[in-house]
Amino acid sequence: MPRTTISVIKADVGSFPGHSRTHPKLLETAAKMLKAERGKLLVDSFVTHCGDDLELIMTHTRGVDSEAIHRLAWNVFLECTGVAKNLKLYGAGQDMPADAFAGNVRGMGPGVAEMEFEERESDPVLVFMAGKTGPGAWNFFLYKVFADPFNTPGLVTDPSLSEGFVFEVHDLVGKRKISFACPEESYSLLAYIGAPSRYVIRHVFKKDGTIAASTSTQRLNTMAGRCRGTDDPVMIVRAESGFPSMGEAIEPFTIPVLVAGWMRGAHHGPLMPVGLCDANCTRFDGPPRVICFGFQVTNGKLIGPADMFDDPGFDRVRARCNELADTIRAQGPFEPHRLSSEEMAYTTLPAVEKKLEPRWEPLGD
Ligand code: 13P
Ligand code: MG
Repeated sequence: MPRTTISVIKADVGSFPGHSRTHPKLLETAAKMLKAERGKLLVDSFVTHCGDDLELIMTHTRGVDSEAIHRLAWNVFLECTGVAKNLKLYGAGQDMPADAFAGNVRGMGPGVAEMEFEERESDPVLVFMAGKTGPGAWNFFLYKVFADPFNTPGLVTDPSLSEGFVFEVHDLVGKRKISFACPEESYSLLAYIGAPSRYVIRHVFKKDGTIAASTSTQRLNTMAGRCRGTDDPVMIVRAESGFPSMGEAIEPFTIPVLVAGWMRGAHHGPLMPVGLCDANCTRFDGPPRVICFGFQVTNGKLIGPADMFDDPGFDRVRARCNELADTIRAQGPFEPHRLSSEEMAYTTLPAVEKKLEPRWEPLGD
């Protein structure tokens, strides 16, 4: 049995109205193009959206970073950009800043999370997709799932988990990476991932090197100094039998965590877990939200999806997120609702400052 690869590649190539949701014509175009590749490049595929991001979930046997798979995703986004332009959708082609495909969509605009593994007897996989936030948003949740026994009792009670996990962290500013083994290095890990605008968990592995989780770390909004909104990351997590259980993997989303993104990619706000029917960003272009689709991966086929946050068990966190949203919104243009000056450097604020620059006078003391 060949190893299975799951590739989740996403891009915002236009939405309606404004930055709120993907148009059905884009979903249809993408679904058709991927379906045509089943039995050829792909084993299986599923197309969905979170807010204004078009999400391509694909299985195949070509491994991660496959040029053919990335080219396919690129072509889907190009075709959908054309559809978006015809409909004059908002931000048509927003996440496609590069002119031509250059072998890998990483660093070109779209976000990518991939993993390759040998299927277990039964392989539950969760795909998380977020809107109106950046890649560091997963840090808190991955720590809770794979390193915190108060979230994941299996770390204490299940011998197949008690060794702990290894976290690979990327420094998006210094362009370098480091790995921390947990639980023994959990404080060192937290020293970095507590600053999610710079340090992002890219992978989580079992201690024997088996992949457990993979995220997209692309920061499109900092590419070439462009101001292009939020990155809206994706994440793949394997569950059960040697990994945290399905329920342990979604449990931390009951905590209303403040993340960076939301309006103009320039504000902190609560990350709200929602079912697909609520995966549309409206209030103040948000609030930031996350959906989770559960699949059984069976000989490369995607059995599912199950819409994991479509559950009254998440009603209370949604209510708490709304309360937090009211509280932080009341601060208007003040920090910490507005991002720190450092992060605002990638928004339209520097243009305002540039205009006002000549009016500043030295204090003279
Ligand atoms: P997106 O990056 O999701 O398009 O959002 C941009 C934005 O400015 C929202 O206010
Ligand atoms: Mg958008």
